[in-house]
Amino acid sequence: MPGPGAYWIGEEEKREVMDVLESGYPFRYGDLSDSKYKQKVYTFEREFAAYTEAKYCVATNSGTSTLLISLKAADIQHGDEVIVPTYGFIASYGAVIFLGGAPVLAEIDESLCMDPQDIEKRITPKTKAIMPVHVLGNPCDMDAILEIAQKKGLAVIEDCCQACGGTYRGKHVGNFGDFGGFSLNVFKTITSGDGGMLITNKDEYGEFAFGMTDQGYKRKEASVQIAPPSNLGFNFRMNELTGAFALAQLRKLPRIVSTLRRKKKLFKDAIADCPGVSFRTIHDPNGECATVLNVRFETRERAAQVAEKLKTVTVDHTGWHVYFNMDHLLRHLQSIGQPCSHADFPRTEDLLKRSINLSVGVVDPGLGTAFGININSTEEEIEAAAARFRQVCESTA
Ligand SMILES: Cc1ncc(COP(=O)(O)O)c(C=O)c1O
Repeated sequence: MPGPGAYWIGEEEKREVMDVLESGYPFRYGDLSDSKYKQKVYTFEREFAAYTEAKYCVATNSGTSTLLISLKAADIQHGDEVIVPTYGFIASYGAVIFLGGAPVLAEIDESLCMDPQDIEKRITPKTKAIMPVHVLGNPCDMDAILEIAQKKGLAVIEDCCQACGGTYRGKHVGNFGDFGGFSLNVFKTITSGDGGMLITNKDEYGEFAFGMTDQGYKRKEASVQIAPPSNLGFNFRMNELTGAFALAQLRKLPRIVSTLRRKKKLFKDAIADCPGVSFRTIHDPNGECATVLNVRFETRERAAQVAEKLKTVTVDHTGWHVYFNMDHLLRHLQSIGQPCSHADFPRTEDLLKRSINLSVGVVDPGLGTAFGININSTEEEIEAAAARFRQVCESTA
C-alpha cells in the first residue's frame, strides 16, 4: 500500500524513464555535451534544491543513507550521543548506532514530534546532535529545538523522510538544521520506489555529503572530479532511472501537497464534532504535508475499541515506528545503559495508545493508516469514510 506519489504514477514518469532507457545510458555521471546523457539525477538535484530553496541537494539511494551521511558529516563518533524521538522510524536510531554513537530517546509532545522540553533534560556533556523527525508530515517545533541546539552548540539533523513538501513558517523542512534527509520510498509523499535527497546550506557539508555518496569524489558539474578525494566515502549513488522517475514525481509535488491539504480539511471538518475526539497539534497548519490525520481519544480503551471496529490499530501498535516495539534496539539501548523502558517515557506511551492514524495520502497499515481516504478519494468517498468513523465513535461513546 503506497503513499500519494505512487497513486499518481503516470505518463510523465513513463516518459522520463523511457528517455533514459532509450538512451542506453543509466549511470548518473556523464558529459553534459553528450546527447546520450540525459542528466536526470543532476537535474533532479538542482530542481529539488530550487524547490526547497536549499543551497545543496545530493541525491542518494535512500533516506537512511542521507541520515548516515549527515551524522558522519556532523562527526558523530564512538560514544557521542544523539537525541532522537521515541516515535519515528528504526532508520534514525540505526544510523546513529552504525557510527558507534548512542541514540538517546526523548519524549514526544502533543504533535507526536519530539518534545523540546524533554530534549533539554536529555542533554549531557556527551551530546553532540539532535535529530528531530517530522513525523507523519508534521514539522516539529523547530523554533524551540533550534534555540536549544544553538544554546548548547549541537548539530541538528532533520529527518524529513515523512515530510517531503512540508514547510515550517514558510521555509521548507530540512533547511533549519545543518542537514535535512528525505526519502523516496513507496510510502512517502513522492516516490521512485526507493531513493533519497540530502539538503544542506553549508558549503563544507555539501561537498562532504556528495563525496560520501561516491567514494569521496568531488563534484564537477554533472560528473566527478578525478582528484584525490578529501574523505572516504561509500556508494550511495542514485542512478538515472531512479532520477528520471523522481524528477517526474517532484514536478507533481506541489499539486500532491495542495490536494492532500484540501482533502484532509474535508475529512477533518467532517469528523471534528465526533464525541470525545481531538486532533494532534500541528505546529504550522500552513506547512504540514497532510499525509495523515491523527485522531486522539480520552482513554486508551476507547481508542482500542474504535481501532478494532475500523479494522486498524492504535499508534502504539505500529511496529518499527515506536521505540518499544523494536527488540533489537531495546537490547542495544540496555547494553549501553540508555533509558528505554515504558516507565521512562510515559507520555509517549499514553499519547500513542490513545491515538489512531487515519490515512489521507499515505495508506500503509505499517504506519497504522489502514482506515481513511487516499489522494484520489472523491468528496462522496470522503463523506462515506467520515460517516463510518462517526458511526463507530458514536457506538463506543
Ligand atoms: C522517519 C523515517 N526516517 C527514515 C526513513 C528511511 O527511509 P528509506 O526507507 O528511504 O531508507 C523512513 C522510511 O520509512 C522514515 O519514515
